[in-house]
Amino acid sequence: MDYLTFLLAILHVHKALCEETFWDTTVQLSENMTLECMYPSVGFVSQMDWTKINGTQKESIAVYNPYFGVAVMDAYNSRVYFPNTTKKPGDLSLSFHNASEVDVGFYSCVCHSFPNGVWRKNVKVVQSDSFETATPSNSHIITEPGQNVTLTYQLQSNWPVEQVTWEKVQPHQIDILAFCNLSQGRSYSSKYLRHTWSNCSQGGTKSFLVIPNAIIADLGLYRCHFKASTGEKETFVIRLMVTEGKANKQHILFIVGGTASLMFVVLITIIVILYNRRRRRQASMPVKESRDKQSKVVTNYRSPTSTNQSMDEEKEDIYVNYPTFSRRPKPRF
Ligand SMILES: *[C@@H]1O[C@H](CO)[C@@H](O)[C@H](O)[C@H]1NC(C)=O
Ligand SMILES: *[C@@H]1O[C@H](CO)[C@@H](O)[C@H](O)[C@H]1NC(C)=O
Ligand SMILES: *[C@@H]1O[C@H](CO)[C@@H](O)[C@H](O)[C@H]1NC(C)=O
Ligand SMILES: *[C@@H]1O[C@H](CO)[C@@H](O)[C@H](O)[C@H]1NC(C)=O
Ligand SMILES: *[C@@H]1O[C@H](CO)[C@@H](O)[C@H](O)[C@H]1NC(C)=O
Ligand SMILES: *[C@@H]1O[C@H](CO)[C@@H](O)[C@H](O)[C@H]1NC(C)=O
Ligand SMILES: *[C@@H]1O[C@H](CO)[C@@H](O)[C@H](O)[C@H]1NC(C)=O
Repeated sequence: MDYLTFLLAILHVHKALCEETFWDTTVQLSENMTLECMYPSVGFVSQMDWTKINGTQKESIAVYNPYFGVAVMDAYNSRVYFPNTTKKPGDLSLSFHNASEVDVGFYSCVCHSFPNGVWRKNVKVVQSDSFETATPSNSHIITEPGQNVTLTYQLQSNWPVEQVTWEKVQPHQIDILAFCNLSQGRSYSSKYLRHTWSNCSQGGTKSFLVIPNAIIADLGLYRCHFKASTGEKETFVIRLMVTEGKANKQHILFIVGGTASLMFVVLITIIVILYNRRRRRQASMPVKESRDKQSKVVTNYRSPTSTNQSMDEEKEDIYVNYPTFSRRPKPRF
């Protein structure tokens, strides 16, 4: 009987450890770091608190109560503050004045609310270089604010997928947006500030993430991570760009620019051919005239005329106006 109790205790500890190794957010240690904690649901928040977890030990950092405010523990009193507690109900984001190596570790923000009960966000603070620069992207998507964005990834192999994770990778932190354990069929609700959703039942090898009503702040890197029960892993990174109608304009500019360059090349070719032909006919050619011609080319390139028109103009220059020598480059201001 004692043996069974012991086993159960072991199991319990194991379960607790497994639960605690799941981190919603990974934050890079920096002097002025902020650990975001915002209870997303409506309902009455009766209490919130932050603890630091070291192995099996929990150290209280601060407790928040809507009536009594924030109580910060002595060990943290001069080192942390809560920038948004008074501004937004349910926002107990924790900021450090001068964080250092002692602040590396595991943190937990818990919210007690009515009628939803307990909500928890686990944050891991690590010492590392920028997460973003270490994450090259494989593809990109351009969207405008207000659009519903769907990021999809189709696994290239046919593995028995066990786990799919979507993350947002920022320079200073990584947030889990969706997590799916396919053998469990259980979905995970993200603790990230922005609401996104995914779907566990995709037959395994395909996954998507929907970002409804995109805002500028959604731009950045999104990482999809597949893990097979046989141990294989595959990661895909999508860069999302959210631009206010600029995306299309840039595209058009690019096309117009390309056409203009092509026109320029065609023009130059035609001019060179005509010039050579004429040169054969007329051996002596004033240097000034050739300069005039060059500036004419530039003018033509800038003016929004079609290739045919420009060709006609060139022909005019050469065969009609050439003998007068009176043409000067138009003064440009
Ligand atoms: C942290 O904040 C202080 C005061 O606001 C500022 O002087 C310091 O440069 C900041 N440190 C970093 C690394 O941004
Ligand atoms: C965790 O606790 C151990 C002893 O309980 C201590 O030596 C260690 O410094 C603690 N680590 C942190 C990050 O507080
Ligand atoms: C605090 O609230 C402001 C807007 O009210 C927001 O811009 C800022 O990101 C919030 N800070 C944190 C740490 O959540
Ligand atoms: C921040 O902490 C470091 C040592 O951890 C110390 O040298 C420095 O003076 C502190 N800066 C401030 C502004 O408190
Ligand atoms: C985005 O999706 C929502 C439903 O999820 C829909 O009501 C809305 O019209 C969609 N917006 C756009 C721009 O497609
Ligand atoms: C996924 O679920 C299975 C079955 O419950 C479990 O054995 C496995 O540890 C889970 N994996 C993760 C990463 O939670
Ligand atoms: C998941 O996706 C499948 C197929 O696209 C759909 O039938 C199902 O309703 C979705 N489930 C949820 C919870 O959105």
